Amino acid sequence: MCGITGYIGRQDAAPYLLGALKKLEYRGYDSSGLALLHDGELIVRKAKGRISVLEERLMSEQLPFMANIGIAHTRWATHGEPSDLNSHPHTDSEGRIAVVHNGIIENYLDLKKWLQARDVVFASDTDTEVIAHLLNYYYKAREGKFFEAVLDALARLEGSYAIAILCTDYPDRIIAARKDSPLIIGLGEGENFLASDAPAFIQYTREALFLNDGELVVLYNDHVDLFTNTGEKLLRDTTHIEWDAESAEKGGYPHFMLKEIHEQPKALNDTYKKFDEIKLNDWLKGDGSPIERIIITACGTAWHAAMVGKRAFEALARIPVDVEIASEFRYGNPVIKSGDRVIVISQSGETADTLAAMRLAKEKQLPILAITNVLGSTLAREAISNGGSVIYTLAGPEIAVASTKAFTTQLMCLYLLAIKLGVLNKTISDSDYSTYRNELAQIPEKAALLLKQQEVIQKFAALQFNKDKVFFMGRQFDYAVSLEAALKLKEISYTHSESFAAGELKHGPIALVDTRTLVVAIATQRPLFEKLVSNIKEVAARGAATLLITFANKGKTNYDEVADSVFIIPDTIDTFSPMLSIIPAQLFAYYCSIQKGNDPDKPRNLAKSVTVE
Ligand code: M6R
Repeated sequence: MCGITGYIGRQDAAPYLLGALKKLEYRGYDSSGLALLHDGELIVRKAKGRISVLEERLMSEQLPFMANIGIAHTRWATHGEPSDLNSHPHTDSEGRIAVVHNGIIENYLDLKKWLQARDVVFASDTDTEVIAHLLNYYYKAREGKFFEAVLDALARLEGSYAIAILCTDYPDRIIAARKDSPLIIGLGEGENFLASDAPAFIQYTREALFLNDGELVVLYNDHVDLFTNTGEKLLRDTTHIEWDAESAEKGGYPHFMLKEIHEQPKALNDTYKKFDEIKLNDWLKGDGSPIERIIITACGTAWHAAMVGKRAFEALARIPVDVEIASEFRYGNPVIKSGDRVIVISQSGETADTLAAMRLAKEKQLPILAITNVLGSTLAREAISNGGSVIYTLAGPEIAVASTKAFTTQLMCLYLLAIKLGVLNKTISDSDYSTYRNELAQIPEKAALLLKQQEVIQKFAALQFNKDKVFFMGRQFDYAVSLEAALKLKEISYTHSESFAAGELKHGPIALVDTRTLVVAIATQRPLFEKLVSNIKEVAARGAATLLITFANKGKTNYDEVADSVFIIPDTIDTFSPMLSIIPAQLFAYYCSIQKGNDPDKPRNLAKSVTVE
């Protein structure tokens, strides 16, 4: 939900800012802008549309100077439609202060009235503009003390923010602050950076300083100072970011999404290999009582991973699992018992609802295990500071808005954890454990094999992309996968797609099936295969086109008689099939999106990281 960045140093700030915005574009892409500080003046340029529009505007203008300090923003609109005026940066009426902001100022209407009563005239419909005017107000009240004015203004804000501020009277510094929105500082040699996410600056430095909520940082070109929001100085160790710069590039693929789909074998392998190094003792021990129930909470794709995880924990460790959408869990009043454990899953580790769900779990004193892809994310840091544990998926940066490799690596972690708990619970024997481990170790190779059949799906998508409705159906593990498959398709192809537990079809959804419908049946649970065959027949009889995703047939059924098209995935234990069966669905969504002329990396109305409610 919006990306912010900033640069201070000796180089030309504008090219860095534009490059960084492109790396952050996945966070929002309806408008963008930057502010440079040069010769005591703010130069602000903003444009509705993709970052390329801003870039073209700057190129055609050819700024006749080089500014060494600047801030920039890429927007996902919350308050005010996407437009030049509503784009960030926002400035005060005197053009002295410029602000970029990621988050939502919840009390902005009260603040706006308060400022209007003091004759402030607003130029935009955004919540962010109040910050610029508030800063101006306190700047004057504090007789030109920039830092103190920022502290005063922040104290008035309610809601979430990561902000960066420039002031013409202080051309040697950027002040930035965070509350409930991510902000990372990149520490270079004679230059420093700030950004919502590390890929913005890892090309220049991998030394990072992570801000906590309620902290403030002043960046100069040769050092940075960290403070609490009451002005006390803080010391913090830096973190070395392992991700290399190339992993945040497309590397020859036309889109990040396709690249990330193809990175799954490596991501799965890396995640598998690192798992044994993870220390889970605190979470396993909990309050000392054995694990009686696991509650898993997450949003979107991570919630679908949780749905697979539920089946895995129940099948392999015989532990009951409740799965709760984080935005529901956070406002519920969960019944908690001793012996409960919580798992919170989030690729970004910054999803507002998921963080709130974790904080509720903490309030209820539940032992927390976070599964996340981002080192130093709020989820990871808060889980650890609350005595919890963290499992990192080693998927590398996931840039495309539609999550792919994060999902399969989350599954790998959940399966590894499920068999570990199975051994502890004595629900699986040591020899079964070895069999499962061996099978999990082979999943990356099988995923690579499956990806070699990409063209089959590409051709299928070319024939089917124009269907009015696409329904995915399955049972048990396959139902969980079909939820994720339907989400992928609707996110990037804008086709109406839904997922059904196959047995539910006849209880209502089948009324929607007609000749303009494609039904994709995922059937990897061998004991339930014949049930799925009947369900396919039922929808085919109502005119639907059908695709079956399953394992190779061992000779009993003629697949050609079951469905119009069949996609075979490499063989594995039924329980582990979701890590493979989702891949053709990811490819199908990708190619439908391409066929429709959409940008699969940046689907309309969405953003990668949902850091607001
Ligand atoms: O970063 P998170 O895993 O917490 O994100 C959760 C959802 O916002 C995310 O999975 C979203 O549904 C994706 N766009 C799915 O492709």
